[in-house]
Amino acid sequence: MADKQIKKIGVLTSGGDGPGMNAAIRAVVRSAVHHGLGVTGFIRGYEGLIDDNAVELNHRSVANIIDKGGTFLKTARSPRFKEAEGQKKAVATLKKYNVDALVVIGGDGSYAGAHDLYSKWKIPTVGLPGTIDNDIYGTDQTIGCHTAVNTALEAIDKIRDTGHSMERIFVVEVMGHHSGYIALQVALGAGAEDVIIPERKFDYQKLYEGIKKGHDIGKISWIIVVAEGAGKAHQVSEKVIEITKFESRYVVLGHIQRGGSPTAPDRILATRLGAASVDCLLRGEHGRAVGVLQNKINIVELGQACTMSIVPIDEYCNLIKTLT
Ligand code: ADP
Ligand code: F6P
Repeated sequence: MADKQIKKIGVLTSGGDGPGMNAAIRAVVRSAVHHGLGVTGFIRGYEGLIDDNAVELNHRSVANIIDKGGTFLKTARSPRFKEAEGQKKAVATLKKYNVDALVVIGGDGSYAGAHDLYSKWKIPTVGLPGTIDNDIYGTDQTIGCHTAVNTALEAIDKIRDTGHSMERIFVVEVMGHHSGYIALQVALGAGAEDVIIPERKFDYQKLYEGIKKGHDIGKISWIIVVAEGAGKAHQVSEKVIEITKFESRYVVLGHIQRGGSPTAPDRILATRLGAASVDCLLRGEHGRAVGVLQNKINIVELGQACTMSIVPIDEYCNLIKTLT
């Protein structure tokens, strides 16, 4: 398939959804139509490829979705696609619909799948970074992250009101199993007192001592942000109560961070990257991932893009401590 002229492309969203995925699909479809290509959407990510669940898309199919959260193509995790048998069925479905190339919108796991389709099955693929985690190499931002950070920030601002009024220590759990990016951003943006992330060993003793010292000089409320992969908010809160004897509550923000209307930066990023992914395929650059670095479209090998991005963790953590 690799050297064939591309006349029709496929598009799917895979893994955890994020705000801006619809805007990305819209840009892929409309760019493809602009270049005279046909487009097939696959429903529920790689599951749709395996189960032959497809929908033909045109310019009108993606009207009025740029502002909508979620993904109208639905998304799923597909353990079956990790096996050769699942991938074989997926390739057969692509052939059935005469799809010559595929745009995969998702996170690092979805990228690994797109890389397999390219390297093992010779399907021209391009990956588009759709995840709230902002943990993909080759792009400064992933689609959905900006909205998720804003959603979490809004919630923490409200928590601060009650925390300050009732003189409590709040532990707020945000999303991120392997990535502390959201936690770092919201901790800095909300003026939180501490942040606990998977990438960095956390000194709990120092936290308890800091709370006691702060209390001695009149500090009455705290916000501690914890990324879900680094600890559970209820456990951190219980321990704070046990050691410091001060009042503490916890909040798990959970999946509200994945929903909602995408912010302007997410819509714009999704639109630029959606168009760039089609350009990339048409230039014959396959097995690639598109991103934005220093506000310019950046293209890397899909295999390379499956690794984590580098966040200035020390700078963030030092700032949080300095400004507390
Ligand atoms: P995300 O793309 O958000 O990181 P997942 O890690 O759940 O989400 O991956 C989404 C899907 O991508 C998986 O359900 C699976 O179908 C596919 N996938 C993940 N890892 C691999 C892999 N190593 N090889 C092939 N496919 C994979
Ligand atoms: O990868 C995106 C993400 O939202 C992570 O931040 C989170 O850990 C995970 O997905 C949650 O997955 P699920 O929706 O399966 O609970």
